[in-house]
Amino acid sequence: MGSITFVEHDGKQHLVEVEVGKSLMQIAMDNGVPGIDADCGGACACGTCHIIVDSKWVNAAGNANQEELQMLEMTPEKTPTSRLSCQIKASDSMDGMVVHLPEFQM
Ligand code: FES
Repeated sequence: MGSITFVEHDGKQHLVEVEVGKSLMQIAMDNGVPGIDADCGGACACGTCHIIVDSKWVNAAGNANQEELQMLEMTPEKTPTSRLSCQIKASDSMDGMVVHLPEFQM
C-alpha cells in the first residue's frame, strides 16, 4: 500500500493510503480530506471534486475523457493539470502522488 498527499489551498497536507480501485474523490472523502464537495457522488456531473494534479504526477493520473474535459471547462480555477478526482481510479503506480485542492469548488 502506498500513499497520496492531498494539499489544501493553504498548504495543509493530508497523507492518505492508496486504496486501489477507488476514486481519488472517494479516498479523500473517506479520509476526511476537506475541500472536495462531490455533489453528484462521482457521476462526472457536478465538477465539485476538482483537484490539481502535481505536474510530476500527471502521467500517473491518466487522461481525462471528453465528458470530464467538458465539466472542467466550467471550473473557475482550472489549470493545465486540473482533473475531476471522481474520474481518477487509484492504482499502485500512484504511491507518492501529490494533488492540490483548489481554494473553492464551484
Ligand atoms: S463528484 Fe461530481 S464530478 Fe466528480
